[in-house]
Amino acid sequence: MKSITFSNGDQMPMIGLGTWKSKPGEVYQAVLWAIESGYRHIDCAAIYNNEKEVGQALQKAFSDNLVKREEMFITSKLWNSNHRLDDVVPAIKSTLKDLRLDYLDLYLIHWPISFKHGVGFAQTREEFFTYQDIPLSQTWAGMEICKEKGLARHIGVSNFNISKLEEITKSGKHAPEMNQVELHPFLPQDKLVEFCKSNGIHLTAYSPLGSGDRAAAIKKADEPNLLGHPLIQELAKKHNATAGQILIAYSLARGIVVIPKSVNQERIAQNLQAYGIELDGTDMEKLANIGTKYRFVDGSFFTGAISPYKLSDLWEKE
Ligand code: A2P
Repeated sequence: MKSITFSNGDQMPMIGLGTWKSKPGEVYQAVLWAIESGYRHIDCAAIYNNEKEVGQALQKAFSDNLVKREEMFITSKLWNSNHRLDDVVPAIKSTLKDLRLDYLDLYLIHWPISFKHGVGFAQTREEFFTYQDIPLSQTWAGMEICKEKGLARHIGVSNFNISKLEEITKSGKHAPEMNQVELHPFLPQDKLVEFCKSNGIHLTAYSPLGSGDRAAAIKKADEPNLLGHPLIQELAKKHNATAGQILIAYSLARGIVVIPKSVNQERIAQNLQAYGIELDGTDMEKLANIGTKYRFVDGSFFTGAISPYKLSDLWEKE
């Protein structure tokens, strides 16, 4: 199995099961199918509202001796409402309780956006904090405590651009080891990828298949179709693979960890088989010139009129 290696020698499998949008009632079975078919990496988050069920599935897999805890790589993420220094350790402890684990392999700051404690999704201006209220360095200091206490083996961030990565790297004792961002042929983010790679920060690609099952409220009617794009279909034919496998192989070819979400037994197994697909230089050049630029998860749900944050604060200019 292909993996990336952290500076202390720990390994992270390059294909993990995504669990965003996997509903309670579906995710238990999905995690067990994934482990049975060979996955050793599950990507979770407190805000996905399904960690308790993921925890039940992990417990079942461990007690049935399907796999040992130390063979699994489990990631979770700190929600926006727990960014104050004193809230970070209680937040990871709550996630660990839900997942029925005593440590995480990787803990990430989910978004560089802060809400008041207890807020799920801020609906009024009063429910937001600002960067003056809670600088990112304060939240990062909390993440470092998680690492020092052994609650998380590795710490990192998600949805961070270059200037935000620089901000926490300057202030912190420990550098972030991972940045999880949206990455696929419609959004290659070459500048951010290059910055991360040259600064020893690994990347994880979320929404690698275009995240077609997002709620209508965070989806535009005229979105381009990633899985159905003619070039993806052409490469699928060439490699005797599925469109999903081509998109997963695209991240692998860039040295980027990838977390396709599925709750379907066949697709869960199929996605892991992308390990066997090697895209060549010509394929990658064609993909680099696919012609469509699109960000599916644009963060505008955090940056509307009532928010102190602006979309232009979030993303790198490409
Ligand atoms: P399902 O869970 O029914 O398999 P993303 O990882 O970009 O968020 O995309 C997840 C979406 O892609 C879900 O709707 C998921 O549906 C679907 N999906 C997962 N694997 C595949 C695949 N191999 N081919 C087509 N669609 C897939």
